[in-house]
Amino acid sequence: MATAILSALPEEQAGLVQALQQARRSVHAGRMFWQGTLHGHGVVLALSGIGKVAAATTATALIERFGVARIVFTGVAGGVGAGVRVGDVVVASDYVQHDMDASPLFPRWELPGYARTRLACDGPLSALLLEAARACVEREGFDFGQKADAPPARVHQGLMASGDRFVSAARDAQALRDALAAAGHEVLAVEMEGAAVAQVCADYGLPFAAMRTISDRADDEAHGDFARFVATVASRYADHIVGGFLKML
Ligand code: ADE
Repeated sequence: MATAILSALPEEQAGLVQALQQARRSVHAGRMFWQGTLHGHGVVLALSGIGKVAAATTATALIERFGVARIVFTGVAGGVGAGVRVGDVVVASDYVQHDMDASPLFPRWELPGYARTRLACDGPLSALLLEAARACVEREGFDFGQKADAPPARVHQGLMASGDRFVSAARDAQALRDALAAAGHEVLAVEMEGAAVAQVCADYGLPFAAMRTISDRADDEAHGDFARFVATVASRYADHIVGGFLKML
């Protein structure tokens, strides 16, 4: 059974589509899906769309329509953890929905009906992604306009937060990080889709892993940093890390 590679942005998916062999394109639920082989593995490539609902629809279609065995997400995120810088990679250990709040019916951030706040990613799949990310970052000196004396990129693993909001103010990023930290949840990065895909995969009992390259610091410069990063290197990270991951699968 095939592995789904879910990308957030067309820029990130372009290189994977180009490398796809025996490519077959189809449209379902208003989305384009690419089936084929990459590095000898059967894959289905798809775009998540932006936001939790769009991502959940794509994930459900991948499972129901294409019968994928696992879902791997590749995208960019805003770094909110201390020491999580632009150009770093974060492999998700688990996910929280930072905009989930059914209090006082349920504790803040708890997923109603799941009795949990955090949804774990698959351990073995995430370990492969982590290994691929480390090898890639060590091997490739990605140039995204950083200063010559900037420290080398690092790979982190930890909690990722998703919500239907592009976080673009240092004050908001800090408020989000501090509120979750006060409840014992140390968030490394924020994005808009992963937790929804994690929830769909939990519902269907499918392994899920995710890696995000840090495009910005979710601060007052986030918009410009995000656009620059996506336009320059996001796709190269995706190609190298996903390629390395599939070779180890
Ligand atoms: N994805 C990349 N950067 C982000 C940010 N600052 N907020 C939400 N999602 C993001």
